Amino acid sequence: MFKIIPNKREIGAEIVCNIKKLNKRDFIKIKIALQKYGMIYFKKQNLTSKFYLKFAKKFGKLANYPRLKGLSKKYPQITVVQRKASDKGPSFGEQFHTDSIYTKKPPRFTMLLSRIVPNKGRANTEFCSQYLAYKELPNSIKKRLAKHKGKYSSEGPISITTREREKEKGKIGEELKSKHNIIKKINNKYTIYCSPGHFMGFEPLINEEQKLKKYLFNHQIKKKFQYSLEWEKNQLAIWDNRSMLHQATPFKGNRIMHRITIN
Ligand SMILES: [Fe+2]
Repeated sequence: MFKIIPNKREIGAEIVCNIKKLNKRDFIKIKIALQKYGMIYFKKQNLTSKFYLKFAKKFGKLANYPRLKGLSKKYPQITVVQRKASDKGPSFGEQFHTDSIYTKKPPRFTMLLSRIVPNKGRANTEFCSQYLAYKELPNSIKKRLAKHKGKYSSEGPISITTREREKEKGKIGEELKSKHNIIKKINNKYTIYCSPGHFMGFEPLINEEQKLKKYLFNHQIKKKFQYSLEWEKNQLAIWDNRSMLHQATPFKGNRIMHRITIN
């Protein structure tokens, strides 16, 4: 069985298969689907950490994530995103963002494998296609944005979602900063590459910066570009950080996700 089922407006796709039994041709189809839909997910994949890593390596080189602890000494590249029912404050990543944009070379892909999840329909991850968002920008704004970089910081607006955890475990690390072009070309398509959760300003400076920023952020996360992914246990999702924004939705409950980022 191998079947690709695109979501509405092709914002992500489900791939029905058994990851343990893929052949080379299936794998090529998976890579093409990831390029085309920006996010792909697979249900009912009960993978060991060893197999999960092996699968991740097929997409590129594994990245280090400086701000979360590794699963174990044996698997430092798998980081654990955990929320306990007793946790207060927002969940990790509860604002639209792209992962690690505040580094010089942000990871191309992020993978999440759900180990423990609350009831279905809660704790969704919302994705927002920046290919579509770019397409629907007025030409004048496209031209304007193409001349600018965005400045980003790990201490940007979204860092509020790690404050409660920092209170328990201490500070996660030094502030990291970067600059990246706002308009990017990936797989021959243009995308808006801008993380509202980490944004600190435009470079070079713009007159009426607040006005453009507000316009851009509102546009980037319009409902029509969004897809809300429901989780069940043993579900794996992979997305392209350069063409998809994502965010966690607020929830109370226990959840453990195993995360791998890929350069
Ligand atoms: Fe994230």
